[in-house]
Amino acid sequence: MKSEELFALLRRRGIVWPTAEIYGGAQGLYDYGPLGAALKRRIEEAWTAWFVGLSHDYYRIDPAEILPEAVVRASGHLENFTDPEVTCENCHNEFRADTLLEKVRPEGVDGLAPAQIAELVRSEKVQCPRCGSSALSVPRPFNMMFGLDFGVTGKERVYLRPETAQSSYLAFPRMWDVGRHALPLGIAVVGRAYRNEIAPRQLLFRLRAFTQAELQIFFDPASFDLPFERVREERLPVLRVDRRTAGEERPEWVAAGELARPGGLPEFYVFHLAHTYRFYRDVLGIAAERLRLFEKSDQERAFYNRIQFDVEAELESLGGYKELGAVHYRGDYDLSRHGEGSGKDLSVTLNGGRRVLPHVLELTFGPDRTLWALADLHLRTDGERTVWQLPAYLAPVAAGVFPLIPKAHAELAHHLTDDLVAAGIVARYDGTGTIGKRYARADEAGTPFCVTVDGETLGPGPNHDTVTLRDRDSKAQRRVSRGELIPQLLAALRLPRPVRTDRSLGHRDAESGEPGDDGSERVPPASGA
Ligand code: GAP
Repeated sequence: MKSEELFALLRRRGIVWPTAEIYGGAQGLYDYGPLGAALKRRIEEAWTAWFVGLSHDYYRIDPAEILPEAVVRASGHLENFTDPEVTCENCHNEFRADTLLEKVRPEGVDGLAPAQIAELVRSEKVQCPRCGSSALSVPRPFNMMFGLDFGVTGKERVYLRPETAQSSYLAFPRMWDVGRHALPLGIAVVGRAYRNEIAPRQLLFRLRAFTQAELQIFFDPASFDLPFERVREERLPVLRVDRRTAGEERPEWVAAGELARPGGLPEFYVFHLAHTYRFYRDVLGIAAERLRLFEKSDQERAFYNRIQFDVEAELESLGGYKELGAVHYRGDYDLSRHGEGSGKDLSVTLNGGRRVLPHVLELTFGPDRTLWALADLHLRTDGERTVWQLPAYLAPVAAGVFPLIPKAHAELAHHLTDDLVAAGIVARYDGTGTIGKRYARADEAGTPFCVTVDGETLGPGPNHDTVTLRDRDSKAQRRVSRGELIPQLLAALRLPRPVRTDRSLGHRDAESGEPGDDGSERVPPASGA
């Protein structure tokens, strides 16, 4: 589906729409309606279960979104968080120079001086995409943070956080004090970040206010002991820098063990890269052949990173691979910068007396982009029928409950809805229109199960106290006793559970108590939407 078509569908269903729509919208800002907000929450809950669930020493916190200037100065964002901006001197529109140069320089312009970028714009005869003029200004670095005047006098400068990560670095010393005094320690934040993007575009892909889910793992670089054997055989779709420079775009399948061979990537990095890949494949349900782990070169990496692979999905609506998240090895960059900036020693004393400045591995994820990707990849149209084939546990509504004939069956259908909700299943009653229309509405919203109460439920025959349970994808219907309905739905809505990084915890199947053969565990579904 084309992006405009997909957005029109999402808007029509009240999933997402431009902020301040009645005023013509605001570039790079969107609001989520009930289904969109519920889906985004489910994506965030699934992320939390998968990544914060890696260890009992990983925690989610909820810090403020505004940062004092000293923080963003120390973090390097004041100096380095820039994009090269050019202005068309004819029509006065502003553009990112790297976007204008995308065709001639697909690797981007990171690392080039403004004068070199200006020379490229000139030599490649780049024209304004709006008016076609070649009168483009000399590129200038444009800082993407939103600054605010703080307090009554307005003299204190503060910034909306450009990444949630900073809040976790600031929290580290406090979390160390209140915790077990042991590494690795994980601190996660799921919340809004703000960037004054020069060219907000591609709908949910380049927003000015967006959600990030980021886990910062603080670890001792001399000992990060992980059960690597649980991922060693996993084949990953990687596109390494050397193959990219040879013109390749498709990934090659390489076993995790091969990537982490002596002289290759560190095991701790590959372990989390594999874990992250499994999240996209096994939890978000994205087909493996649509995923790519894209290695960034020295010039392309964010200024704080030592190793960076972006997780990309191939999306029809946006015409190619797009970044949804990443695995960043940030070394000791953040704690040493904040140590210098605050004048506090952020190193810690480990059991045994050794002092260490922890390194950081960051697992970063974009729920807004992912919501779009799940619409692109899982919405199917088949003639008149549109079905959103979301994994069941992500669906905003898990079960639609319908009375076949509202006048006769509404009361029981309402009771049944209440019972499902009380059991932690997001259920919605729908008694409007024909049963076919109700199925169609549920299919388009991604509701995996529909339960119908009919005359047989209430009658004295063999189907007394049974309901029909319809499966969204196969359209198959079967009768289920009311007593069996909740356990069956709960089982079908279970979220896959992550491999633990703590060796002592092993990895057991929560239902059978047996270790899972693929290294995964099962947990009960998160409840409520
Ligand atoms: N803490 C690291 C960091 O912020 P990033 O690559 O700039 O790294 C991480 O952002 C993720 O945040 C991206 O992979 C993407 O999913 C999401 N993201 C970044 N900028 C975004 C934007 N303007 N609109 C929507 N999502 C964005």
